[in-house]
Amino acid sequence: MNIQDAFHVRRRGFLKAAGAAAALAALPFAGRAIAADAPKLKIGMIGSGRVGGALGRVWAQAGHEVMFSSRNLDDDKALAAQVGARARAGTPEEAAAFADVVVFAVPYGALPELGKSLAESIRGKVVIDTCNPFPDRDGEIAERALAQGAGLVSAELLAGARIVRAFNAINSRRMAVAHEEPGRIGMPIAGDDEEAIRVASDLVREIGYEPVLVGGAGMGRYLMPRTPLAGELTVEEIRRIAATLQ
Ligand SMILES: NC(=O)c1ccc[n+]([C@@H]2O[C@H](COP(=O)([O-])OP(=O)(O)OC[C@H]3O[C@@H](n4cnc5c(N)ncnc54)[C@H](OP(=O)(O)O)[C@@H]3O)[C@@H](O)[C@H]2O)c1
Repeated sequence: MNIQDAFHVRRRGFLKAAGAAAALAALPFAGRAIAADAPKLKIGMIGSGRVGGALGRVWAQAGHEVMFSSRNLDDDKALAAQVGARARAGTPEEAAAFADVVVFAVPYGALPELGKSLAESIRGKVVIDTCNPFPDRDGEIAERALAQGAGLVSAELLAGARIVRAFNAINSRRMAVAHEEPGRIGMPIAGDDEEAIRVASDLVREIGYEPVLVGGAGMGRYLMPRTPLAGELTVEEIRRIAATLQ
């Protein structure tokens, strides 16, 4: 199985897994201790599959208001019902308009169109970009993102947003449970906007990872599978590796 296969999970499978994982919602939420006084945000998930579903569920458990969206509102309604009272479902347009923070968790090939259709709603907002380019899945835009760097190309596609790249090279299954042992593992993030980095860092901590800023949008090229920063690394390991990548 190649890395893309390993990362790719069909949505139906996710919803089944989410049903089983719903029991997790009843468990004590370890991240809550870290985030107890953090401001509660409205978070719009653009894409509610493996990554969007896992992140949105944990943030809702941490007390944020989450709106799930995709091209299938019925699936998003089912997911929101599983997650509970702080989750709702809407179209991508509704989720982007609703949100203080917009999280893109879609195949990279969807970003050009979404960047256009959501341009007004995401302008000036904090955006977390979890998306990775795979040419065989995402086509020409992925070729370009690999050549120019995903951080820079995402910034072009989602122009006007305050983008932080994060969550790109860990498996979604870990995103769902990392809060059970908060802060043990580092999370490389990249971005240029100080306030967006602060907001995204708090959200990364609530998922259970300690954020490590590795640089601006240009460094976003290293935040994806098959780079030295991929996988779960300690804060010290991330800093040491990032220093060799400038
Ligand atoms: N899976 C991982 O472990 C992992 C880890 C880190 C990063 N990533 C990256 O994160 C992104 C999401 O990965 P994933 O594994 O969560 O994928 P996934 O399970 O296939 O989910 C993708 C989600 O995006 C939605 N979507 C697709 N096209 C859309 C469009 N044009 N407009 C709105 N929604 C759309 C899908 O729903 P509909 O098709 O119903 O619209 C689905 O909800 C990818 O770029 C991936 O490379 C994945």
